Amino acid sequence: MTTQPDDSLLLGTLVQAVPGETGAPVLQVTERGALWLRQGRIAATGTADRVRAVAPEGVAVHDHGGRLILPGFVDAHIHLPQTDIIASHGEHLLAWLERYAFPVEEAFSDETVAAEVSGFFLEELLRNGTTTAVVLGSVHPQSVEALFREAHARGLRLVAGKLLMDRNCPAALRDGPGLGLDQSRELIRRWHGVGRLRYALTPRFAPACSAAQLRGIAKLAEQHPDVYVHSHLAESRGELDWVRHVFPEQASYLDVYRDFGLLRRRALFAHCIHLDQNERERMATAGAAAVFCPTSNLFLGSGLFDYAACRRAGLRIALGTDVGAGTSFSMLRTAAEAYKVAALQGAPPSPAELLYLMTRGGAEALYLDDHIGSLEVGMEADCVVLDPGATPLLARRAACCESVDELLFAILMLGDDRHVAAVYTGAIRYTPVADG
Ligand code: GUN
Ligand code: ZN
Repeated sequence: MTTQPDDSLLLGTLVQAVPGETGAPVLQVTERGALWLRQGRIAATGTADRVRAVAPEGVAVHDHGGRLILPGFVDAHIHLPQTDIIASHGEHLLAWLERYAFPVEEAFSDETVAAEVSGFFLEELLRNGTTTAVVLGSVHPQSVEALFREAHARGLRLVAGKLLMDRNCPAALRDGPGLGLDQSRELIRRWHGVGRLRYALTPRFAPACSAAQLRGIAKLAEQHPDVYVHSHLAESRGELDWVRHVFPEQASYLDVYRDFGLLRRRALFAHCIHLDQNERERMATAGAAAVFCPTSNLFLGSGLFDYAACRRAGLRIALGTDVGAGTSFSMLRTAAEAYKVAALQGAPPSPAELLYLMTRGGAEALYLDDHIGSLEVGMEADCVVLDPGATPLLARRAACCESVDELLFAILMLGDDRHVAAVYTGAIRYTPVADG
């Protein structure tokens, strides 16, 4: 992996997903296209001839040939401390948390551990073409300090926060309502709005937070309307039963967040499987977003996210890997599982919808679609170059494709990190392979 500052002209086939006239996403393809990237932004886009005419003489040209140039991927839900427990066997959500997640998170009280894992974690995101991620740290503020520092150095767009949890978890992982809020306030002061970094208030999930803590989080969120709220919602049946027991006065799991003032714009809720249509619509009206995490939902046996119903409700939907319950850092693999989960429910999404979910849809969920998620002039220079020729099977399948639509679908189903030829994130270029 090499890095260099970038002011350059990229040549290749430009592919992005944009809203169509009926509301359903459509693909926009520019064959023999070009992007002129200047000082971390897209300065011109279109056919190679047109962009060459406006770019300055002598600009560095990166000719990616017939490879596809897509907007950088948005992973809207991933846990930093769970990197080392990915692929741990045999449990449903609540037992998995006790057996695997909580123990590994304790190590993040040590900032050296957090810094080392953060370096690996961010390189892994970049290697997979992810240029924006929404990340949960551990309960320890130093885990997020280390993460923000490492992300800033790499030019990534990151929304992150320390977990808030003051009950129903191991004593070593409890912050207490006052302390957790003080730590969050200080992290907002230090990092929110620094370069491409943003803060997310991150109550782990309702049953791990006292009423006092939830109330305090809502108050802090009200003081900082542009700070995110990030949590889990309606992931497994066992969790739902537990929430009913812990919050007997609330009508539903969603109502716990609603009643405590956390259902709002810039609130992201991972999973959202066991909801009814009225709840999906209420989330949509509030301007909150659901994060679909298919590899995690299948791996833990949590259930099937109803993508079509969420679309009907007009809900903002993003895609997340949810590592370490999720089984891959690759948003290509994640999109493939999203397709299968929706297909199982009789509504397979189009290639354009899948690409939308992992780019512009994620950007909309974050209210960042005027900065990231598409290849328009003025957008931040986040893009990923995919090479279908990188593996024999996909190369063979690609040779049979008659349209970019068909090729994109094959890449989404068969692709992974091996097909990421280069990644541009803000002002930095990463090339996992020799200069292309
Ligand atoms: N719900 C509360 N905490 C977690 C977590 O760490 N992973 C997942 N998948 N669900 C959760
Ligand atoms: Zn999660």
